[in-house]
Amino acid sequence: MNYLIGIDVGTSATKTVLFDEDGNVVASASQEYPMYQPENGWAEQKPEDWRDAVLATLRQVSQAAEDKADIKGIGISGQMHGLVMLDEAGEVIRPSIIWCDQRTGEEVEDMLKIMPRERWIEITANPPLTGWTAAKILWVRKNEPENYKRCRHILLPKDYIRYVLTGAFATEVSDASGMQLLDVPGRCWSKEVLDALAIDEALLGKVYESCEVTGTLLPKIAEKTGLTDAVKVVGGAGDNAAAAVGTGIVRDKTAFTTIGTSGVVFAHTSKVSIDPKGRVHTCCCAVPGAWHIMGVTQGAGLSLKWFKDQLCQDYVAKAEEAGKDVYELINEDVNRIPAGSERLIYLPYLMGERTPHLDPDCRGVFFGLSAIHTKAHMLRAVMEGVSYSLCDCNQILKEMGVEVDQMMACGGGGKSPNWRQMLADLYRCTVKTVKQSEGPALGVAILAGVGCGLYPSVEEACDRLISEKSSTEPDAENVEVYKAYHEVYQGIYRSLKEDYKKLAKL
Ligand code: XUL
Repeated sequence: MNYLIGIDVGTSATKTVLFDEDGNVVASASQEYPMYQPENGWAEQKPEDWRDAVLATLRQVSQAAEDKADIKGIGISGQMHGLVMLDEAGEVIRPSIIWCDQRTGEEVEDMLKIMPRERWIEITANPPLTGWTAAKILWVRKNEPENYKRCRHILLPKDYIRYVLTGAFATEVSDASGMQLLDVPGRCWSKEVLDALAIDEALLGKVYESCEVTGTLLPKIAEKTGLTDAVKVVGGAGDNAAAAVGTGIVRDKTAFTTIGTSGVVFAHTSKVSIDPKGRVHTCCCAVPGAWHIMGVTQGAGLSLKWFKDQLCQDYVAKAEEAGKDVYELINEDVNRIPAGSERLIYLPYLMGERTPHLDPDCRGVFFGLSAIHTKAHMLRAVMEGVSYSLCDCNQILKEMGVEVDQMMACGGGGKSPNWRQMLADLYRCTVKTVKQSEGPALGVAILAGVGCGLYPSVEEACDRLISEKSSTEPDAENVEVYKAYHEVYQGIYRSLKEDYKKLAKL
């Protein structure tokens, strides 16, 4: 039996999974690390933490294969947009400024002075965005010129891991789309953009398609992790493009919603389709020759985790006592609260918001708090607020005429029946799940299988390995309740827009 490994370098943890060639999980390991927030709206992680987590988890899962020579390939997936800078010796220069960091408002303005918004959208398929890599590069160049001067390689988080594993400086089209340096329709670096920003192409890795082989394991890494140096490492994919493959979203009219640290509504498209207002992103997807459109909620699972970490020590203690998952207990209580949380609305803008506002200055709100409300109401309101934001994403896809016959739910939040019901009620469509719950890790393992010749194509591998599990229908009563609440939710941002700007200046 052949085996494949999928690595997902997430924001809360790295998860590494060993699959057999039929897509069954043989072994799985994960390791958490912190996110640092030196200032309000900033977010950083240490690439060395990702590296240590990858090497430790690889070592753990590789032991489950009887014959190491049967492990044929590795795919790497990871959080998108993060900036990793390496010096001449390949050492990390500074902590990575990650996807949800919002410090680059000024750099986005600068980018708009350099090139008109329409041209940015034509080439990179997106307007300049605070969370994307190009603005972060400009921030370091302006604020830390010494670090910029020492920089010889610019990599995305998962591509730093590729460098650690194989020594190759490379990326692939899906993740590179989120750097704002790629010609997204052409699937190659844009000379026009690089010239406009005065960024030397030599700093960037070679661009591959997601299932192409980019190298093999370095002998010292093979030894450290218990693998052989014949293991091939393919391009892999950004976490959302990887989750798409792992959930079988590889053809037109299929879409998924993932609730991880961020929340994403993602639709596959075989033609480049761009929102002229730039509210949702268009990126190359992991299927060669295809793209995807996605709307992003910055603080999805992040909102619930934040609330749990700050205010739910009672739930944490109870869960430990009962040997249960804390989110299971939270969901039990949330289920007792009616839709709408008895007139309590939460805006999930803890790290600013992307879709639909593109506003780095907005922040979270509980609106309508009353003495009737309990912690369970607030927890339900948090989950509903995230769902309202995801509904905003879905509405834009509908406005753009993106046809969706099939909506899957995945990610940690997608496992919650409450959350899936909220999505079905707000989207007014059936929301399904698949049996294979590894999402991005399975997605990149499939890409590795294609690269190693085990599967003929990404689509055929998905047909063979992925099958449906559950289906959630909208509840007619809740549909009406949420329609009214969503309207109020949308109005709150409009009312606060100018105040957010004032608050950001304090
Ligand atoms: C997508 C995005 C996030 C990150 C972290 O644009 O920023 O989904 O990839 O998961």
